[in-house]
Amino acid sequence: MTNKVYVTRKIPEPGLSMLSKECKVTLNRKSSVPSRTEIIRNIAGKDALLCMLSDRIDAEVMDAAPDLKAISSYSTGFEHIDVKEATARGIYVTYTADILAEATADLTFALILACARGIVNADRYVRENKWKVGWAPDLMLGYNVHGATLGIVGLGRIGAAVARRARGFNMKILYHNRSRNQQLESELGVRYAELDELLAQSDFVSIHASLNSQSRSLIDKAKLQLMKKTAFLINTARGQVVNEAELVRALKGNQIAGAALDVFEKEPLPRTSPLLKMKNVVLLPHIGSATYQTRSKMAEVAARNLLNILNEKYPDPAFLVNPQVKSVRPLKN
Ligand code: GLV
Repeated sequence: MTNKVYVTRKIPEPGLSMLSKECKVTLNRKSSVPSRTEIIRNIAGKDALLCMLSDRIDAEVMDAAPDLKAISSYSTGFEHIDVKEATARGIYVTYTADILAEATADLTFALILACARGIVNADRYVRENKWKVGWAPDLMLGYNVHGATLGIVGLGRIGAAVARRARGFNMKILYHNRSRNQQLESELGVRYAELDELLAQSDFVSIHASLNSQSRSLIDKAKLQLMKKTAFLINTARGQVVNEAELVRALKGNQIAGAALDVFEKEPLPRTSPLLKMKNVVLLPHIGSATYQTRSKMAEVAARNLLNILNEKYPDPAFLVNPQVKSVRPLKN
C-alpha cells in the first residue's frame, strides 16, 4: 500500500519529487504557516510528516495520526517537536543536522560585518539623499572586525564554522559551551572561557546555542550588563536564548553598542516591537540557512530521512534525533 505523507510547507526540489515518486503527498501549498487545526486535520491517517520549525508537533498532533512512523523536520533545531512523546510511540524523528552550518555561519559573519560597519544605516543614508559632502574624515565611523575579540556562545557545528571564518579575520576567539572540546580548541585556535568572562571580554558576542531549558533566557539582564559598551550581540540561533525585553533596555540605554538579530522570541517580529525603531540594530527575518544550495540540500536530506524510515531502513545516524526509538520499534533493514 502506498504510504501517505503530510508536508506542511512547499519545500524546494528535489525534496518534493523524491516524496511524490514513492508516496501519496498531501501538501500545504499556501505560503503561510498551517494552523494547528489544519495540521491536526491533515495529519490524520498519515504514515509520515515532513514539518518545519514553525510547526508545534506534540502529543495532541500525534494522537491524530496513530499510524505515524516518521517525523522529518526540515530544520536543524527540533525544539518544536515533543521528542520524548514521539520516542514512546515508536516514531522516528529526524532533522537536517549540520547541512545548514556553513550557510548560517556565512550569514552570521555578514551580520558581524554589518553591525561593525553600519552597513544598513549607510545604505539608507545614500538612498535617502543624505550624502551631501562626498568623502569625509569622520563619516559613519564603525569598529574593526579584524583583530577584535569574538565570543562564541555554543561551539557546535555552526559555532565552529563561525570560528573558522573568524580566523581569516585574525580575530581572537573565545568560546563557551556546556562542555569543553579540547580537540576543537587546538584545531580552531579558540580558547574556552566561562560565560561571564566571555561576555566581559568580547567585542562581538555571537549566539549559537540550541534552545533548551538551560539556554532559555541565558542572556538576561545580568549577562548583558557584563558586556562592553562598545560590544555587539549577534543572534542567528533562537530568539528565546536572549531575553528580548532586557536586550531592548540595554540597547536603549547604550549599555552595548548594538545588535544584529536573525531570530526573535516571537516570529514574525510583532509590529509593536521597539527593535523596529532602533538605529543600532540590524534585523533579519530568520534566514540563516536561506541559500538556494542549502535549502535544496536540506529538502533532499529531509525527504531521504523520511523515505528511509518508511522503507524500513534506518536513517543515517547523523540525522536521527532519537536513537532510543530503535528499541521501541526496530526497523527491518
Ligand atoms: C533554523 O533555524 C533551523 O533550525 O533550521
